[in-house]
Amino acid sequence: MDKIVVRGGKSLHGNVTISGAKNAALPVLTAALLTEETCTFSNIPDLVDIKTTYKLLRNMGVQIEGNSTIQISAEKITNSEAPYDLVKTMRASILVLGPLVARMGKARVSLPGGCAIGARPVNLHIKALQDMGASVELHGGYIEAKADRLKGADIYFDLPTVTGTENIMMAAVLADGTTVLNNAAREPEIVNLAEVLRGMGAKISGAGTDVITITGVTSLKAADASIIPDRIEAGTFMIAAGITNGEINILGCNSQHLEALINKLRDTGMTIAPIDGGLKVSAGPKIHSVDVKTIPYPGFPTDLQAQIMAYMAIGSGLSVITETVFENRFMHVSELIRMGADITIQGGSAIVRGVPTLYGAQIMATDLRASASLILAALVAEGTTEISRIYHIDRGYEGIEKKLSALGADIKRVKQ
Ligand code: UD1
Repeated sequence: MDKIVVRGGKSLHGNVTISGAKNAALPVLTAALLTEETCTFSNIPDLVDIKTTYKLLRNMGVQIEGNSTIQISAEKITNSEAPYDLVKTMRASILVLGPLVARMGKARVSLPGGCAIGARPVNLHIKALQDMGASVELHGGYIEAKADRLKGADIYFDLPTVTGTENIMMAAVLADGTTVLNNAAREPEIVNLAEVLRGMGAKISGAGTDVITITGVTSLKAADASIIPDRIEAGTFMIAAGITNGEINILGCNSQHLEALINKLRDTGMTIAPIDGGLKVSAGPKIHSVDVKTIPYPGFPTDLQAQIMAYMAIGSGLSVITETVFENRFMHVSELIRMGADITIQGGSAIVRGVPTLYGAQIMATDLRASASLILAALVAEGTTEISRIYHIDRGYEGIEKKLSALGADIKRVKQ
């Protein structure tokens, strides 16, 4: 298992180019299951979760060629099962459920189970498929769904679920009639998927709002589409500029997707200005502590909560960080405390009292975004930090240590 070793104290300066978004690429890849024709997708990030998705799709008979730009063909689907071994390493494997039922009339997908950040059920995905006429049974840890042809339905999501909205949008594109998704999630990744599906001939309107209308068609054709930039990776580098008292040009990002974060970082005293091809992000003279509450898009993203907490750990005052999306997303807190942070958890909130200095320590990454938070803390900590279980970071950040080194960080990956 690799670990990352960081010697803190370097200000980060220079340019970083943002990769394609993991959370946009995953549903777009599974959308290829909806057509017999060969799709071309570009700006695919080089990540472990992408490789896991390739494994999952190849196991179904899908052909995939290429790296950053791929050709993907689901001409023949030989197997409509997502096995436990793959689903347990990547919950987003559930994204094959909607496309498989829509195209093949059946799917057998392992139930994801819990994960480090909470129970994360998929009941809303299942209920929506049932609303569309699918029979769904749970057997031996698997979701077994069947429907000769799904029927359009009026669906109401109790919560705006991101992958749930994507799954059911993909199920509805080949359904008989019109499906309306109410209280749909509004994330940019959903808009990216809708655009890809429209390129395949699907009829979808309202993506990006909380009501999405999809009128089913009988077949879809090839699409040629690009993945949007990763707003979470961009946000992580923006926070890296602030926490290290640096200045970074974040290239290739979409600032419209980052408004909640940009506003928050400006409140902390940072300067963020548009430049050609991206944003110039500069640390302020002092880090003002701010309160943060995670909310589904366009609110402050839960996927940046851990990172902003590392930043607030060295703020000048008191910050209350409230997590409303996942019930157990404070695993990074105990590790930050080991580095000298002053944080207490009260229910769904973390009370962060800024300290002047964090100190290097041996710490452990617990999930993807927690890993990013610990790297940020390590960048500013006095001394050396060793972060183990770093495999989590490779699921969602392309070459993070290379990108940080290029900005001046003293960071290396060590094989254990
Ligand atoms: C996606 C993102 C993840 C991000 C999250 C919230 C991908 C691949 N992953 O995860 O990075 O942190 O959105 O922005 O895009 N819920 C239910 N029942 C369901 C589905 C969800 O109760 O059937 C709950 C969840 O437990 C959670 C909330 O709804 O409390 C939102 O989760 P959801 O939007 O579904 O997250 P994911 O799609 O799994």
